[in-house]
Amino acid sequence: MEGNDPLVRKIRWFAFAVVWFGFLALGEMAEAGSIVGSKHDLSSVITKFMGSGMENEMNDYGEVCVYCHTPHGANDIAPLWNRNTPTGPYQMYASPTMEATVPGTPTGISLACLSCHDGTIAVDSVRNQPGSGAVASSWYGKPPAAYHYAMSAPGQANPSPGGSCAACHGTSNPYPHNAVVKYLTTDLRDDHPISIVYSEADGANHAVGFNAPVGEKFPNGVKLYSGRVECASCHNVHDPAVPPFLRTSNANSSLCKTCHIK
Ligand code: HEC
Ligand code: HEC
Ligand code: HEC
Ligand code: HEC
Ligand code: HEC
Repeated sequence: MEGNDPLVRKIRWFAFAVVWFGFLALGEMAEAGSIVGSKHDLSSVITKFMGSGMENEMNDYGEVCVYCHTPHGANDIAPLWNRNTPTGPYQMYASPTMEATVPGTPTGISLACLSCHDGTIAVDSVRNQPGSGAVASSWYGKPPAAYHYAMSAPGQANPSPGGSCAACHGTSNPYPHNAVVKYLTTDLRDDHPISIVYSEADGANHAVGFNAPVGEKFPNGVKLYSGRVECASCHNVHDPAVPPFLRTSNANSSLCKTCHIK
């Protein structure tokens, strides 16, 4: 067969395509991490630290996504959300130098995060447990926990029957481990403003100070939700590759400078 025989060319092209797309796929895999095995994979956390006591304080549903998503009967907030909407009331960020208007309470995606991270709702409290709404006595052979703890602040009221994960994971806990459960409480005055409309601060109204997104996205993956800055603008719950679950590295403040021109 000659080098320019059509069949040989086809084979060469095919071999090239396999190698090239293989490289592309590898590149993708190297970049993106997975929620599986991360701190947002609660079932794996309980399994990994079996005997720590956590198996008594939150249900091990034996699945990853169910702590946040359900295929049916979802809440109407974030995508197929499996948790109830927290009701606060929240104290929102306020500042005399802000251009954007901060709403009285957080919106959509941020409420989804706060359903665990404000400490008012138990971490394993879901609308639909695995097993199609039937009252389960075990999930994949894992028995229900006796208690249902929340990521609550010391002194905060806890859901019943429950307590606070901070009993062990507080900053001054007596246990010989260093995991600190991170809750923001319902007082958001000390947190970066959320649920604000980006265009109220960017070039649309103000000539300087902010980079323009392309639609709802910035090139490095930072996102807006219905035009707003939300928790998930900076965080990617599904990917622990850039701790703590950040959408992009903040080395040299590059996360901040995605939006702010400073
Ligand atoms: C700790 C809570 C949590 C867990 C666990 C979780 N997600 Fe999500 N997921 C979210 C939140 C919050 C959003 C909306 C914010 C966003 O776009 O990232 C979301 C968005 C999504 C979306 C739509 C947006 C997108 O990025 O494609 C899909 C699809 C999704 N999740 C699938 C999954 C699957 C599949 C699993 C299990 C392997 C899972 N999630 C586990 C919280 C979670
Ligand atoms: C089902 C409950 C749940 C939901 C919903 C949830 N988280 Fe978490 N998150 C946890 C738990 C549990 C941990 C591990 C304990 C800790 O480090 O605070 C955690 C840890 C984190 C951490 C710290 C990670 C680290 O490496 O230290 C960040 C950041 C975070 N979550 C952000 C978010 C954001 C943003 C959302 C919404 C987009 C969200 N979480 C939704 C339960 C949840
Ligand atoms: C009885 C004590 C106790 C309670 C209560 C408790 N934990 Fe833990 N947790 C542990 C121990 C021990 C570990 C092992 C890791 C270590 O030593 O830091 C751990 C580890 C973790 C980890 C993994 C940290 C890592 O570095 O991978 C997460 C996430 C976590 N716990 C979340 C929770 C959440 C959410 C709650 C409340 C629903 C909770 N824990 C309640 C004792 C506890
Ligand atoms: C403007 C970007 C941005 C927004 C919006 C944002 N975060 Fe963060 N968050 C960060 C960065 C950056 C860090 C890491 C800070 C550090 O390393 O000290 C962080 C850290 C955290 C941590 C870990 C705290 C700790 O003590 O290590 C949690 C939990 C968290 N964020 C949850 C949330 C939740 C929930 C929301 C929405 C209510 C939110 N974040 C909104 C950028 C953001
Ligand atoms: C997704 C875009 C976005 C990212 C990423 C972001 N910010 Fe912001 N930030 C905003 C917007 C929009 C405002 C509201 C500004 C206004 O209305 O004047 C704001 C407000 C602030 C304010 C309060 C300004 C005031 O007048 O009180 C500070 C400080 C700030 N950001 C710092 C940071 C830091 C530090 C980071 C990185 C950890 C960061 N921001 C990441 C969009 C962002």
